[in-house]
Amino acid sequence: MGKFDSIIQKMTVEEKLGQMSQLMAECFGEEDCGTLMGISYGFEVKPELAWNLGSVLGMSGAKRVKDVQKTYLEKSTHKIPLMFMHDVIHGFRTSFPSPIGMACTWEPELVEKASAVAAKEASVSGVHLTFSPMADLARDARWGRVIEGNGEDPLLNCQYSVARVKGYQGDNIRDKYRMASCVKHFAGYGAAESGRDYNTTEISDYQLKESYLPAYKAAIDAGCKMVMTAFNALNGVPCTGNKWLYEELLRGEWGFKGSVITDCTALYELIPHGYAENPAQAAKLALETGVDIEMVSTAYFNEIPKLIAEGKIDEALLDTAVERILELKEELGLFENPYKDADEEEEKRWHVCAEHRALAREIAARSMVLLKNDNHVLPIQEKEKVALVGPFATTDTMIDIWKCMAKPEECVTFFDGMKDRVELVAAEGCAMTEQEGEEALMAEAVEAAKQCDTVILALGEHPSLSAEAGSRAYLTLPENQQKLAKKILELGKKTVLVLFNGRPLELGFLNEEVDSILVAWYPGTEAGNALADVLLGDVNPSGRLSISFPYTLGQVPIYYNALPTGRPKGSDDNPERFTSRYVDAPNDAAYPFGYGLSYGEVSYGELSISNDKMTAEDTITATMEVTNLGDREVMETVQLYLRDMGGSYSRPVKMLKDYQKITLQPGEKRTITFNIDAEMLKYNTRENGYTYEEGTFRVFVGPNSSVKDYKEFVLVS
Ligand code: GLC
Repeated sequence: MGKFDSIIQKMTVEEKLGQMSQLMAECFGEEDCGTLMGISYGFEVKPELAWNLGSVLGMSGAKRVKDVQKTYLEKSTHKIPLMFMHDVIHGFRTSFPSPIGMACTWEPELVEKASAVAAKEASVSGVHLTFSPMADLARDARWGRVIEGNGEDPLLNCQYSVARVKGYQGDNIRDKYRMASCVKHFAGYGAAESGRDYNTTEISDYQLKESYLPAYKAAIDAGCKMVMTAFNALNGVPCTGNKWLYEELLRGEWGFKGSVITDCTALYELIPHGYAENPAQAAKLALETGVDIEMVSTAYFNEIPKLIAEGKIDEALLDTAVERILELKEELGLFENPYKDADEEEEKRWHVCAEHRALAREIAARSMVLLKNDNHVLPIQEKEKVALVGPFATTDTMIDIWKCMAKPEECVTFFDGMKDRVELVAAEGCAMTEQEGEEALMAEAVEAAKQCDTVILALGEHPSLSAEAGSRAYLTLPENQQKLAKKILELGKKTVLVLFNGRPLELGFLNEEVDSILVAWYPGTEAGNALADVLLGDVNPSGRLSISFPYTLGQVPIYYNALPTGRPKGSDDNPERFTSRYVDAPNDAAYPFGYGLSYGEVSYGELSISNDKMTAEDTITATMEVTNLGDREVMETVQLYLRDMGGSYSRPVKMLKDYQKITLQPGEKRTITFNIDAEMLKYNTRENGYTYEEGTFRVFVGPNSSVKDYKEFVLVS
């Protein structure tokens, strides 16, 4: 006997299918808060759906949500409250850095805090669930949605996905200021062939288990309430109709009891996938896959009644789906209080409040990654006269396209953050993307730069060049920005490049010719203050790359934890021809995973391990002495990598297994210890499931994934 049997038994097929449908906020008229338009996103919305609908996509605002909920409950038959779901990806009204940037903090606890702030701001605006965390591992910088993820490493991807679930949900989603979370896009969306969004994915069982699936599982094990189907076909079967993925793996092996929702129109897309011939077949396939809610398209509501009447679908499948949906509404406490935390006064109290801005500023500063700092050009000294040049110099475009309800005009611009801190002139120099007749703009910028000691080049990608449907076939900055940079570099001034980007970029001549490079990603509401804090030295940069930067597009996909091949390239100075390498480019990344500099110098001593042999019951400790040679406090992320030298699969040349982000005072020396146990050595072996295999392992401890020195130990029975 299910908890909701009594209500479900009274529901008609249409009423059940209404619960299994989600429409966009735009379907609700502004005036009367409840009249659905006849067509949404090109799909027919039958009038009967209006007062049976289960949930709404992308509506927020305490008053609006309460009005719509009130009208709906007055008119609906069973008084089952609507659920309001939203894409709160990195903040609601206070915008934190893009997720790829937050993943460079190597501080999941900070991301948990940011997620809790996002939940507070969203919940008082009537949001019940967010479509986050996005747990899609990504190794291909051409893919626009790299920006929404946590980079190329499975361990960090798991940790940040869990941090978001905990931050959004707290101990109980019914609690005030909490909301449910939905992990997406299940599964393997980040492996889009050629980096082209929505493209097909071919992922081996080995790579699925080792690289792509762990973070979804971690989010679910952390209590995530919902899973979203991915647009892509996985090994030939579209995820939204992939019974292996959803029935066997997600609900069977992993035991997930929550709801499954499609991505936007992904159910209908089974037709262009060539997997369904028509909406009726698409609906049947998705229902039999275990999909509970159809987002935006209306095949469930429009097609299933006939299939049931014809005996082609068992109505019990609807009951199961509705049960899971009502369970979530119950967990949110909506039956007792359909309005949950929606409250206009609370909105005024919390939205973009000083406390939230302060956290956004702190996280933005810590997400920035210093890639280069020759001649210690940074930090800029307050007596210096600075020219701030480029399309990101004065714009309020400091947030990526997933800005949710954040307002660009509330962002602190780069110029505003700097202007009271140094003598500053600004010149746009050129637009974000190539325009006609920019010569005059560039000439102005060159003139401004001539008057200054230091030039900051504020360059980058327009936000539309990344995120969903933002895949690029090139990774370079736009030609006009490169042209501006060259003109500025001709002046021979101290030059700092600050990047506003949603992905790793191919920097070309900029790698060599500018003195300093700071990757800022899209820093969010407190962008300008965070930039000033870092560039002027109030904050010592501590970000470390969560994704590799290539020298050239031709290396992509490039990632640190690759397999060794049978002909690994030898040393760079005398590479043998017949090895796995390019004749015209290096194998290594321009800036590898885990890389980042600070204002100062940290030295690493000799690695030692407590034993060169261990059984599964033992623990080996790896110790490393780290010294701050600089004259200022520094935050250093000491990273532990392992390599399994042999197994029933070929194993990656390095795997991040642990890290410690520490603060060292000037001159301070500290011994860092990592414990290595058998759990760390496990993986999805060919024959014996998830376990360890005896043999030799290498231990690396260093500042990033390019560390070379190692010690070896043997795992024995
Ligand atoms: C979009 C995105 C997904 C988002 C959903 C709802 O197409 O793929 O990440 O959560 O639709 O906006």
